[in-house]
Amino acid sequence: MNILVVGGGGREHAIITALSKSPKVEKIWAAPGNGGISALAECFPVKATDLDGILGLAKKLNPDFVFVAPDDPLVMGMVDRLNEAGFRTFGPRANAAILEGSKVFSKALMKKYGIPTAGYETFTDADKAIEYIKAQNSYPAVIKCDGLALGKGVIIAKDFEEAEAAVKSMLLDGKFGKSGSEIVVEEFMTGPEVTVLAFTDGKTVKPMISSMDHKRANDNDEGLNTGGMGTIAPNPCYTDAFKAECMEKIFLPTINAMNAEGRTFEGCLYFGLMLTPNGPKVIEYNCRFGDPETQVVLPMLEGDLCEIFEAIYEHRLADVKIGWKSGYCTCVVMASGGYPVKYKKGIEMFGMDDKGQVDGAFIYHAGTKYEDGKFYTNGGRVLGVTCNAYTLQGALDKSYEAVSKIKFEGEHFRKDIGQKALKALPKDSLDLEYKHDMEDYIEENGVYLRQ
Ligand code: AMP
Ligand code: GLY
Repeated sequence: MNILVVGGGGREHAIITALSKSPKVEKIWAAPGNGGISALAECFPVKATDLDGILGLAKKLNPDFVFVAPDDPLVMGMVDRLNEAGFRTFGPRANAAILEGSKVFSKALMKKYGIPTAGYETFTDADKAIEYIKAQNSYPAVIKCDGLALGKGVIIAKDFEEAEAAVKSMLLDGKFGKSGSEIVVEEFMTGPEVTVLAFTDGKTVKPMISSMDHKRANDNDEGLNTGGMGTIAPNPCYTDAFKAECMEKIFLPTINAMNAEGRTFEGCLYFGLMLTPNGPKVIEYNCRFGDPETQVVLPMLEGDLCEIFEAIYEHRLADVKIGWKSGYCTCVVMASGGYPVKYKKGIEMFGMDDKGQVDGAFIYHAGTKYEDGKFYTNGGRVLGVTCNAYTLQGALDKSYEAVSKIKFEGEHFRKDIGQKALKALPKDSLDLEYKHDMEDYIEENGVYLRQ
């Protein structure tokens, strides 16, 4: 099969890497792709949000399958356009992608179908929103834009002044454009966060292994929110009991609710969950693979990603066997200095080639450019340095060792990826739990072992 992948970040690099391992896949094209992706796929400089451009490219290349990875084109209806033109695709249609495209929609859906989430109200009028926040008198207050905002449309206000400023920035100053013309004010929840990506064809839902993102720019969860500064999988807070509860109260009800609304969701559904003292609740849905969650989830997949994509398109996901490696996978994001605010591009990078890199490290490129045999930075998040190992500590050690070999001016990365997860691990059970898999694991992955 020849596949066109729409997108150009670390997530797409991880997806293309997984697809390239499928015996079914012959050729991969990417639009726009990036410096790292160009080693595996021919890249075309068409923006992922350029619906006409992508459709034109698909008509020219005539791929057997088109994979649409980012949120914007999905919400804008790229899959609908591709299907109308006769292409087989992966990703939800616009009427299902609205689950991420509108928080007002997703909150109303959860309320209607009894899916656990934070209590909320929606507003288009700033005075009414401010009045409501004052009456609630409960801080932190959570204020969210309705629409897509690159992960920046959520403000956790610690007091009334911050909450008032957030409401005004969205509803009066138009800081988030149309995305902020309606807002959600919701209850603040507490507890560990878990991401669960799930394959679904609208009939069957198959959750992938869980992960934990690190959204803030700096160590100890300080600084601004980012797209994600690092991830680990699986997430040790997400116990078997939570898995069963989430399947019963969240995953299946969401799929059923979307069907009942005539908005069948097909593709990868991202559940952003909080394990609160009152049980797991949905923080948000995304209509796609997460970034950088994908970078730690897909290397653990035992199965053929291309086969899964085809099965979803043909509504026979129930028949496909999907397994997950034991052990852990960790990703440390290396970003440009100044990210997520202002940063330089075009800085030469060193140390990513196989020579001298850590054995078994996957260096997923997010914002890079390849020119004349050299790599240059080309975005905020630049690389996702990913390793797997038998233990979480082992994977983290390997990821940080690989990071230490990579240099570019102004590089910024968090030094505490995985620390919260390490604290959540049941200390004595770890080695025992995986002992039976250990030999196979080492054979397959050539892993580093905890000393
Ligand atoms: P979102 O973009 O909706 O994932 O929100 C970004 C981050 O804000 C989440 O990962 C949470 O850490 C935090 N957050 C969002 N909603 C809430 C909430 N209701 N209570 C507590 N934290 C929240
Ligand atoms: N890592 C968060 C996201 O993909 O939305």
